[in-house]
Amino acid sequence: MASTIRVGVVGCGFYAQNHLNSWHELRREGADLTAVCDVDPAKAEAAGGNFGVPHYTDAAKMLDAEKLDVVDIVTRHETHRPLAELAIGKGVAAIVQKPFATTWDDCVAIVDAADKAGIWLAVHENFRFQTPMRHVKRVIDSGAIGRPTWARINFRTGYDIYKTQPYFYNEERLAIADVGIHVIDLARFFLGEVAHISCETQRRNPKVRAEETATMMLRHESDAVSVVECTYGARKLPDPFPETLLEIEGETGAIVVGIGLRMSVTSNGQVSEESIGSPLRSWTSEPWHASQEGAFNACQHFLDCLKRGVPADTSGEDNLKTFALVDAAYKAAEEKRAVEPENWRRKA
Ligand SMILES: NC(=O)c1ccc[n+]([C@@H]2O[C@H](COP(=O)([O-])OP(=O)(O)OC[C@H]3O[C@@H](n4cnc5c(N)ncnc54)[C@H](O)[C@@H]3O)[C@@H](O)[C@H]2O)c1
Repeated sequence: MASTIRVGVVGCGFYAQNHLNSWHELRREGADLTAVCDVDPAKAEAAGGNFGVPHYTDAAKMLDAEKLDVVDIVTRHETHRPLAELAIGKGVAAIVQKPFATTWDDCVAIVDAADKAGIWLAVHENFRFQTPMRHVKRVIDSGAIGRPTWARINFRTGYDIYKTQPYFYNEERLAIADVGIHVIDLARFFLGEVAHISCETQRRNPKVRAEETATMMLRHESDAVSVVECTYGARKLPDPFPETLLEIEGETGAIVVGIGLRMSVTSNGQVSEESIGSPLRSWTSEPWHASQEGAFNACQHFLDCLKRGVPADTSGEDNLKTFALVDAAYKAAEEKRAVEPENWRRKA
């Protein structure tokens, strides 16, 4: 088992700060943040300076100059495939931020390249790593509510996410590809794989090019049904950002996670309640702390898997199933019908 994992971070923009801080904190567990890279020299230099490591403006040069065990790609989706293929081509493991890539074909190409070269590959899909969501999964796995049969999982906010991510105004796909993807992944995490999906999208914000609201209905292979909702145009106050709220019904009980991350569990007629909020870390702050802590937990999981040489829970192959559902949701909305995410069965 490797005791140290040398990490190179590519992309030092908005969200990468959470990865950089996570790897830095994880030095106690064997992460060695070795180098950083951004095509924007000012961002590369700032990150290198903040974390005391060499900085590069060219990922290929970083890979040639540094001995890395893993490249953590925190750029936007258009660059994920070339950067992942670069790392894989050099025999280095790769972690790719969500969305995995721009198209299904790109995602499959990355997974196939990694498979062929025998390279470890993971997708930084982090909602399922958030402490509250881990808690919900533990309750389900304990059997307290019996087999889950129905769920509503939602991320509905009006928080000004355009301020930190102005590129959202011009994306071709927004609500489902950016945040619905996380909620769909949670639906898989809690209720298992999906047989088909229906979806209605809305573009309620005229300043935004794509949909900023989506309402999806999923039939799971277990026969369970879930409703997955996401919007960046909610009006209610208090705004729950960045909390994911949910209700899951099982054969013998139910779980409700309400605003403020209060969880109520009904098990065989007995109700218990507790607070399941994300703890603050030294470098996290409200309201982003829930997301930041999910990113930390995801990095910690990847570090552990890399040290042990085992696949991540959100491996490339696993994340194809989430990405296929994103594609299926857009198709369902466009064609006004339920769509099977057939393409992820490519290896069945
Ligand atoms: N998981 C989450 O909760 C979450 C939240 C926000 C963003 N994200 C994801 O993180 C990714 C990055 O988003 P962001 O908001 O930080 O974007 P950003 O635009 O702020 O940062 C991206 C950075 O990548 C750099 N870059 C682009 N091409 C590069 C290349 N070839 N080599 C090196 N650097 C390059 C850019 O100069 C920029 O600094 C996206 O995929 C986004 O979906 C995830």
